[in-house]
Amino acid sequence: MRKVTIDELQEGMKLARDVFTENGKLLLPEGFIIKPSFIEKLKEYNIDSVYVEDEITKNYVKEEIIYHETFIAIQDLMVSAKTGEIVDPFVAREIVNDIVAEIIQEEDVFLKIVGFRDVDNYTYFHSVDVSIFSAIIGKLLGFERKKIEDLALAALLHDFGKMKILPEILNKPAKLTDEEFEEMKKHTIYGYQMVKNMEGISEEIAEVALLHHERLDGSGYPLKLKGDKIPIFARIIAIADVYDALTADRVYKKKVVPTKAADYLLKYAGIQFDKEIVQKFLKMVVKYPVGCFVVLNTGEIAIVYEENPFNKTRPIVKVVARKEGPPVLTPYYIDLAQDQKREIIDVINY
Ligand SMILES: [Fe+2]
Repeated sequence: MRKVTIDELQEGMKLARDVFTENGKLLLPEGFIIKPSFIEKLKEYNIDSVYVEDEITKNYVKEEIIYHETFIAIQDLMVSAKTGEIVDPFVAREIVNDIVAEIIQEEDVFLKIVGFRDVDNYTYFHSVDVSIFSAIIGKLLGFERKKIEDLALAALLHDFGKMKILPEILNKPAKLTDEEFEEMKKHTIYGYQMVKNMEGISEEIAEVALLHHERLDGSGYPLKLKGDKIPIFARIIAIADVYDALTADRVYKKKVVPTKAADYLLKYAGIQFDKEIVQKFLKMVVKYPVGCFVVLNTGEIAIVYEENPFNKTRPIVKVVARKEGPPVLTPYYIDLAQDQKREIIDVINY
């Protein structure tokens, strides 16, 4: 670690200590990789020097750094918001723009890292994942860059209101009572009020916090809006939100495999969720990467051997073991697109 002046500070250096403003507010947390706009912001706050690492951790891949930074940024914002502070989403916006820049080049660049989360920090990981999925959807729908950036930021902030929900309700390891659920629903209203007050946030971004639980058939909350009355950002983020929530381990439930989450979304496509978006999204995200271990409904354990270009949910697999019965001495291949009786029911390492 060494101290550098703002004039010596360069893009790509990694902060070794938190940077605070004159009145003690956290501006940039330790671990951030400096970019030009950060240097401008530090100057704006009259900060003349910071501590940086001597060498950037080189074995981190770019997406992992961005993912990690986004996690820190949203955690930071949500924790400060809890104390009633008005927060400046500057860092969050900058980091989200990095996600979008990567996704614009290659849409599934983050898919291998979303979904790795611990139960305790669920809200933060979930926010980052929903932001990534939403940006992917924005690109699939042909949005221009600025619109994808706004969408991804709206997604990152969508559950902000959860910071105002009592932890006993938010982290309850069982089903909520009706009363508790009514309280939980208020995170949409709290979130809207909080996000709306942030600097430089448009109504289009803020209203996502309010409307991401609305459903096309009017069965959502809090306003019970229907169909096109629900803005496009909220319709997109609703899908990313539900998909990510289903595929995550929670304190009160186990995760389901991506195809089960897909079944759920497809069941309600056109009823609760925008059908076109569901179809586009699932085609992109629900696939089993080559090399991951899966369990079939027959009790066979297999390695994904090759993707099926026309049906990503049914790859070619190589069976190497069985849950019960005799061992598999000679591994054999099954094309799940041909063999409709077999289903993937679990993923061992994804
Ligand atoms: Fe929510």
